[in-house]
Amino acid sequence: MRALVCSSLDGLDGVAVGQLPAPRLAAGAARIRVRAAAVNFPDLLMVQGRYQERPAPPFAPGVEVAGEVLEVADDVEEVAVGDRVFASVPHGGYAEQVVVDTGQVFVVPDGMPLPIAATLPVAYGTAYHALVDRGGVDNCDTALILGAAGGVGLAATQIAATLGARVIAAVSSPDKADAVRAAGADEVIRYDEQDLRSRLRELAPDGVDVVFDPVGGDATEVALRSTAWGGRLLIIGFASGDIPAIPANLPLLKGCAVVGVFWGRFASIDPARNRSNLDTLAAWWRDGRIDPLVSQTFDLDHAADALRLIGDRGAIGKLVVTP
Ligand SMILES: NC(=O)c1ccc[n+]([C@@H]2O[C@H](COP(=O)([O-])OP(=O)(O)OC[C@H]3O[C@@H](n4cnc5c(N)ncnc54)[C@H](OP(=O)(O)O)[C@@H]3O)[C@@H](O)[C@H]2O)c1
Repeated sequence: MRALVCSSLDGLDGVAVGQLPAPRLAAGAARIRVRAAAVNFPDLLMVQGRYQERPAPPFAPGVEVAGEVLEVADDVEEVAVGDRVFASVPHGGYAEQVVVDTGQVFVVPDGMPLPIAATLPVAYGTAYHALVDRGGVDNCDTALILGAAGGVGLAATQIAATLGARVIAAVSSPDKADAVRAAGADEVIRYDEQDLRSRLRELAPDGVDVVFDPVGGDATEVALRSTAWGGRLLIIGFASGDIPAIPANLPLLKGCAVVGVFWGRFASIDPARNRSNLDTLAAWWRDGRIDPLVSQTFDLDHAADALRLIGDRGAIGKLVVTP
């Protein structure tokens, strides 16, 4: 089958369109014809050999997909051939087919385009799990979203706004500012040209209740210093490339919590809760309460360009590969 093949862990130098064997169907699994694979920052880390999971080359990157069921194992009853589904996979999404355990396969709601469905499991699943399960966000909270126009950031902006929080979105360009305003941000900080700490003092003099941080680097400590008493700093990722050290006196002084979020592990440890979260997100989409932004699509021949855009900090919302 055609795929974007990572044949060495050398980043974009190690990937090219090629052939991989079609994956074998296993018990409890479904074979999906991939129509859309959403692009995530971890895809880039994976082809660089810098992600926590390091598949041996050759492999295809891509951790969330949508498409049609082509085949199911004899013991599968949850989905049938022809169903439109979305799924998360450990890797392999930028390819014509994937085989997935049906525990991680979900039926696409009627009317939802497949590129939108492909953004739900990882990007929206992570943002929802972080804000609801780990951050306990409610409609009294002020939420600061860093990297708010990125894949998980824009999802978090929409979800926090849907939950009724006052959303402060931090972004690095005018286009990104427009995107987060459209997604429901109440306030926008351009941290490429404004001082994050002093703007936060102006916008939230009593501090922010929740910080959603997929960026890391210097912004993390600034955000932590800006939390309110009893606040929560949600550690999502380190897109800046810098894993910050956190002064341990700050959580003490603020009575606040530093909370790790690892959606992939959560989804495998508690699949029932993950399914319930994704059901809620699908219902919110039907009600028009979330509206995932797919800003660009790429055919397989140009899938590496999508990874390049992610690395160049150029993506807004979600990029989707259409194998
Ligand atoms: N914990 C989990 O379960 C989980 C799940 C999914 C993803 N993640 C992590 O979340 C992070 C974001 O993933 P994503 O797919 O949303 O990525 P993305 O779409 O590329 O967004 C990342 C955002 O980070 C900001 N950023 C700051 N410095 C950057 C740099 N040097 N290079 C690239 N971006 C930079 C950018 O916003 P500005 O330009 O506005 O600063 C960008 O929009 C990654 O670290 C990823 O590994 C974690």
